[in-house]
Amino acid sequence: MNDNFEESLHRASQHLEAMGELPDADAVGTAGSEACGDMLRMWVKFREENGRRVVDKATFQAFGCQTAIAVASTAVRMIQGKSPEEALALTSNDLTAPLGPLPPMKIHCAQLVEQALHGALGASTPAANSPPAGTNLSESLAPAAPRKIRFLQPGE
Ligand code: FES
Repeated sequence: MNDNFEESLHRASQHLEAMGELPDADAVGTAGSEACGDMLRMWVKFREENGRRVVDKATFQAFGCQTAIAVASTAVRMIQGKSPEEALALTSNDLTAPLGPLPPMKIHCAQLVEQALHGALGASTPAANSPPAGTNLSESLAPAAPRKIRFLQPGE
């Protein structure tokens, strides 16, 4: 990676207010990368503006590399004020444009962000297996609490 790209990544990943769950979000999308096993979740809150529904705020959590964090950080700023349709029209190339061209082995990192964004904006109602909007990514990855086993007694 060249120095300019490294600097862009560093600057983009300093956008700390965009990181973490958004408790009153209207939509949430989660994506996992088969290429590296990383995961990213994005929360989106809408507002009405001139009769249009637009993105008021978006945040993300990532178990991913610095590139994914930088692209997600860029994406949540880019979609502010856009309608869901406008935000959905953004490709991973659009989301990475402010950072400069990604090295080929980092393209999937931007696609991870694009998929999480599409997951949040593409569904008007949460999918059956989607976590509630306030669910923290680390909590949803934690193993389920151990279950107690009760043996049936004769006659039960
Ligand atoms: Fe996994 Fe970048 S290497 S998201």
